[in-house]
Amino acid sequence: MELKIACIAGDGIGPEIVGEARKVLDAIAKRYGHEIKYTDILMGGASIDVHGTPLTKEAVEAAKTADAVLMGSIGGDASTSPWYKLPPSLRPEAGLLGIRKALNLFANLRPAVLYPELSGACPLKAEISDKGFDMLIMRELTGGLYFGDRKTVEEDGVRKAIDTLVYDENEIRRIAVKGFDIARKRKKKVTSVDKANVLDSSRLWRNVVEEVAKGYPDVALEHMLVDNCAMQLVKDPSQFDVILTENMFGDILSDEASMVTGSIGMLASASLNDTKFGLYEPSHGSAPDIAGKDIANPIATVLSAAMMLRYSFDLDKEADAVEAAVKEVLKEGYRTTDIMSEGCREVSCTKMGDLLVEKLCK
Ligand code: IPM
Ligand code: MG
Repeated sequence: MELKIACIAGDGIGPEIVGEARKVLDAIAKRYGHEIKYTDILMGGASIDVHGTPLTKEAVEAAKTADAVLMGSIGGDASTSPWYKLPPSLRPEAGLLGIRKALNLFANLRPAVLYPELSGACPLKAEISDKGFDMLIMRELTGGLYFGDRKTVEEDGVRKAIDTLVYDENEIRRIAVKGFDIARKRKKKVTSVDKANVLDSSRLWRNVVEEVAKGYPDVALEHMLVDNCAMQLVKDPSQFDVILTENMFGDILSDEASMVTGSIGMLASASLNDTKFGLYEPSHGSAPDIAGKDIANPIATVLSAAMMLRYSFDLDKEADAVEAAVKEVLKEGYRTTDIMSEGCREVSCTKMGDLLVEKLCK
């Protein structure tokens, strides 16, 4: 099979981790007889430096001609990088929001899994972490506060800022359908998270989710208020299977969920539209403080590439092989510095990639 993959290496540790993920994809292609055609796309700070803007039309077009996009990370240190002296619409993050919207990537899947090998890294008490957890946050990605009208004005000498939170029922329905579809392939439970005790948009969210649920009698649905969900995530994360939520709540809860695993360097994500196309990126950021040191953990990007094989190319066997290689390397005690613990062997970003490739070439 021919796989057309656009790569956005991005900023900070992005080029290092994408480099390792590509090595792994190349090993998969060799082992299973596929051909990969890569195109490189500039986005974020890397694009600002060359084009003066975080995302060009050409970059969006190049992404559209690919079957899927593999991304590293974008952005720099907001207190020191010159990118953050630019107006908000020209900063690196605007590139990411722009590509999500331009490619209609409304469904953001963020799995948060406690790997048994890494349970020591979980910051929760053993009585909680011993139960393990494996949840998936299904975050709506192209609506809500992120994309509503916003402005800052001055009225009678008082500065005032306005952000608008808008959802229509179609936006809610399509993400709910994705949430229920995926729950069906997992533990068949959806926790829909909202703030229906305060917000109209949440009350509509709840109603539409309930309508969608009628088509999935085999999937259990519960509603949870977002503040309670934030608490439950640390109290008993094992209760969750699929968390279905809107853009801003999903942004916050997915960071919390990843922290609870103790190993954000391991967490993949996929952003999908209603075709097979997707953008795949690690859940973590660009970590400018460790960029260029060859110490970043490439596993989240490698696992994002595995999600790409599974969701965009239907290559389940290949995705399984990547995930198995990750488990094996961890079992053998190899760790990058972020997940290092006593008795293990610390390896660089490049070495971690090499070890994964070795497993796949066996
Ligand atoms: C994320 C990030 C982005 C978001 C930022 C970089 C705009 O935090 O992907 O979670 O808020 O969506
Ligand atoms: Mg975030």
